[in-house]
Amino acid sequence: MTIDTKVSFTPVRVVVRNDGLYLQRRGESIKVPASEATARYISQAGMSVFDVLIGSTTRQALNISERLVLSPSGAKDRTLTPDLIQGLNNMPLLLSVLPGQKMQVLFLRLAEDLSNMKIYAIKKHGAIPLSESDIVPVAQIERPTLLYPTAEISALPSEQRDIIYNLYRYGNYITEMDQVFIEWNASQDRNVWGPSIDTVYMLYALRKHGLFNENTRKVAEIGTGNGMLAKAAVIHAPNLEQIEITDIELTALACAERNIKVNLRDGVYLAGIHAPGLRKIDRNVDLLISNPPYVPKPKAQETNPYEGTGLIREVVAEGLSHLNPNNPEAAIMINISSLALKDFHDFIRGRDDLRVERLESLTVPLKINWTQINPEWMDFLIKECGLELRDPSVFGYKFWHTLHIYKLSIK
Ligand SMILES: C[S@@+](CC[C@H](N)C(=O)[O-])C[C@H]1O[C@@H](n2cnc3c(N)ncnc32)[C@H](O)[C@@H]1O
Repeated sequence: MTIDTKVSFTPVRVVVRNDGLYLQRRGESIKVPASEATARYISQAGMSVFDVLIGSTTRQALNISERLVLSPSGAKDRTLTPDLIQGLNNMPLLLSVLPGQKMQVLFLRLAEDLSNMKIYAIKKHGAIPLSESDIVPVAQIERPTLLYPTAEISALPSEQRDIIYNLYRYGNYITEMDQVFIEWNASQDRNVWGPSIDTVYMLYALRKHGLFNENTRKVAEIGTGNGMLAKAAVIHAPNLEQIEITDIELTALACAERNIKVNLRDGVYLAGIHAPGLRKIDRNVDLLISNPPYVPKPKAQETNPYEGTGLIREVVAEGLSHLNPNNPEAAIMINISSLALKDFHDFIRGRDDLRVERLESLTVPLKINWTQINPEWMDFLIKECGLELRDPSVFGYKFWHTLHIYKLSIK
């Protein structure tokens, strides 16, 4: 197994063989004892630019999806470009810091192809502008499958681990991918779904499959949460005229609007709709986006139409009638977890008018609050919905599922 890692400017190749771990740089190969792959070891070996942090034990870190966490040690991060710093400076969360007030912000940057996630601490001391030295790189996760990857963070040396946990605990987050910056603040954005792996995976798929193009004039997002996907349309669809965002949480609409307005240009109409489902959105949209709730619940449809997979059912049933009939590329992009596939197949059965394409799939841990799930429900998820159980000592997390990004359009 060979893992190529690159942080900013020094590539270090980590080769794993049966007899141990080898770090290779500029033709040199150094065998690293399994439990001693520490920053000290690597600097002794002449690799002073970066610390390669393998975690508490090599076995543990390598088993976590073969990922390594690397951290620049005081090195200049050349990816912190003036544009990026300007993007951060535009965020209202940072703008609202008063002179003299100290604040730390967690800044997560996802590579456009999702190959890595960089974790930074933003040191904010009073008024703007933020400078490069205020943005401190802390760690990098290769091939992230969560935006709060607790298993990988736990495997870091204690100083880094504790800094990162504190940053999450302070509750000031800025997430960026593909120039879309989203801020989320724990006290301001109560009940708002912050950016998650689902969100960035949807964004990746929307971009990769060209869903933001010159014919994307009207977009609606059902269940906008933090607004990242709607904001991506504002930034990346060059001829956008109208963006409708809906949510059942008023706080979500406030969060999404606050984030979107930073990039809203003249001539683009933003409508925030506080209503469930699709009932109040336009009948003429070019793109309908939804990352709906997807954890099925036993007997949900008998009690609350929107519990479990109810929103998926409504998007499948009603979505096509909201698409622009004059745009042959008009489509629905929806994220369906493997947990909800059975329901999804029931919903699309017999629908001769619907073209269904699966565009992307990614297996990720399911962050499930099992204290709120009774044994009957858990049993249902495992037996009826295919919730995958893995050995957490090997994979870092116990519960797993697969995100499937579907494109639905008129046949
Ligand atoms: C999984 S989160 C996705 C949030 C955001 N779009 C993202 O991708 O990060 C689902 C969102 O749908 C909202 N929601 C749940 N049921 C809904 C319904 N019936 N109609 C509209 N929004 C709903 C939730 O409040 C939440 O913000």
